[in-house]
Amino acid sequence: MTLPIGVLISGSGSNLQALIDRMEVGVLDVTIQAVISNVPGVKGLERAANHGIFSQTLSHRNYPDRASYDRIVVRVLRDAGVQAVVLAGFMRLVGPELLAAFPGRVLNIHPALLPSFPGLHAQEQAAAYGVRLAGCTVHFVDEEVDHGPIIIQAAVPALPGEEADALGDRILALEHRIFPQAVQWLAEDRLEVQGRQVVVRPGERLLATRNDLPPCLVFPPLEEGF
Ligand code: GAR
Repeated sequence: MTLPIGVLISGSGSNLQALIDRMEVGVLDVTIQAVISNVPGVKGLERAANHGIFSQTLSHRNYPDRASYDRIVVRVLRDAGVQAVVLAGFMRLVGPELLAAFPGRVLNIHPALLPSFPGLHAQEQAAAYGVRLAGCTVHFVDEEVDHGPIIIQAAVPALPGEEADALGDRILALEHRIFPQAVQWLAEDRLEVQGRQVVVRPGERLLATRNDLPPCLVFPPLEEGF
């Protein structure tokens, strides 16, 4: 069954694009029913329009508090028939109103190997710290920042002297691989949360054989098409 999802963004929407691309080649079994941006005029909105996807700007500045903002977001998502929500560069904490509306069905992508470097500018934080391995994480969302149970992570070497932007670009390329994969596992109802552990139940797809990844470690491994 195809999972109707909503995507929340705040910026460029390259992760949204990665989802659209996998969806359009028939690998990712979702329909994007709504894209909501809390920031007006961002490129992600243009990407949605380019693919005929309904989108709406809901600026948090027009709402007195998080609860009232989240309520309007939930209403728009529900009206669009959304059953799961993915945060694709959504730079806001989501509150209990939204989490209660889609229990166990809100995913986030974060550009660091959590629990290291939660919050803003994770790539810069990692580069400044001098880590040897950096990466990205897809996790279930809970009420704490970048905190919920981890679904998949990808690690890349951080090169000595590398600018944070260059490291960020290499991390982003991997975000575009692991995010659609995690969303597909959700769509196939293969994710089982046991406390902080997420079990990915076996599915029918073979593991990916494409060898176009840069030096990296991805776990659980990507399946065919991702
Ligand atoms: C991505 O790197 C994503 O991981 C990050 O924002 C960027 C959005 O890029 N998200 C966070 O930092 C959330 N804590 P995009 O708009 O091109 O997908």
